[in-house]
Amino acid sequence: MNPNHPYNDLPPLPPAVELENVSILKKAIEAHKALAELKGAVKSIPNQGILVNGIVLQEARLSSEIENIVTTNDELYRAAADEKLTSNPHAKEVLLYREALWHGFNYLKKKPLATNLFIEIAEIIKGKNIGIRKVPGTKIANSKGEVIYTPPEGESVIRDKLSNLEKFLHDEDGIDPLIKLAALHYQFEAIHPFIDGNGRTGRIINILFLVEKGLLDKPILFLSHYILRTRPNYYIGLRNVTEKGSWVDWVMYMLEAIETTALETQQRVDGINTAMEKAQMLVKTKAPKIYSKDLIEVIFEHPYCKIRFLEDAKIAKRQTAALYLQTLEELGLLKSIKIGSEKYYINKKLMKILSK
Ligand SMILES: Nc1ncnc2c1ncn2[C@@H]1O[C@H](COP(=O)(O)OP(=O)(O)O)[C@@H](O)[C@H]1O
Ligand SMILES: [Mg+2]
Repeated sequence: MNPNHPYNDLPPLPPAVELENVSILKKAIEAHKALAELKGAVKSIPNQGILVNGIVLQEARLSSEIENIVTTNDELYRAAADEKLTSNPHAKEVLLYREALWHGFNYLKKKPLATNLFIEIAEIIKGKNIGIRKVPGTKIANSKGEVIYTPPEGESVIRDKLSNLEKFLHDEDGIDPLIKLAALHYQFEAIHPFIDGNGRTGRIINILFLVEKGLLDKPILFLSHYILRTRPNYYIGLRNVTEKGSWVDWVMYMLEAIETTALETQQRVDGINTAMEKAQMLVKTKAPKIYSKDLIEVIFEHPYCKIRFLEDAKIAKRQTAALYLQTLEELGLLKSIKIGSEKYYINKKLMKILSK
């Protein structure tokens, strides 16, 4: 491998080294256990919108942050409340990432993971038709600007490598799916099929793969949180597979990432559940006349809530809805702010859980 020459000799999967050693298998068991617990915890969340905004959007935010697309939670949730109006380009990109993840999740209900889906995901993220790279020149550089890797070139070479990857994902070869996931992520990034968006597309595929294998029911795993915290190791890990064949270290890194983030995501899901239960109790005792399950859910689905969301959810008509939100503010559950002509009711407790 010469960092300046397209790596058209990138070896196909499975890796030629023995991956199922004792420490990897032990770690895989722990990661499976954590994922199974997360899968169970997610079932307790009543409303899909809460998961999408609470977890999926956070994964979208941090996966984008790995690529230096940085947005605060306040900007993001405000943008999510007013998708058409937002002018913040980074918040927009994060919302596109969420859309891409959700698109992939729905695709899997009909068809298995495949090159076509990878392209669709990258195109949603980039907001344009980019297709597989056709022209040479894509390179990966380190923070000093030195080229460390040149991915394979030539559309048919790239497509062949993606076909091998697809086949590997679905082969009944007895390889543990979490070990497969680690191999998948390296390989996808090493193929680097697009001009841009490879990191984010690859991290979406990771989560979709877990759904495809039945290890998660919903596409929620806060994997990017761990990757962001350990970003230098993430880059070194990928690089060392190419340069030194360090597969074992890479698989261990990914298994640790899965285990840690499954536990963290579960804590977050539990935190949201507990906060919802408390809010429910409070409203039931202090303002029973306005209580409904839907009202509690809507303020947990929209951390930046607006009167219109209550109208859309058919909870109340405009004036009554305004009164409801005011009452919830008096109870200390929400805090209103006015931005431009729009009034938002912020669920501070939820924002705190999401920002951890
Ligand atoms: N040495 C490397 N070998 C292969 N892939 C790498 C290497 N270093 C970084 N990457 C991957 O490349 C991604 C960045 O590629 P890019 O196309 O710019 O994605 P995005 O637009 O989502 O930022 C990183 O997030 C990482 O997954
Ligand atoms: Mg990029």
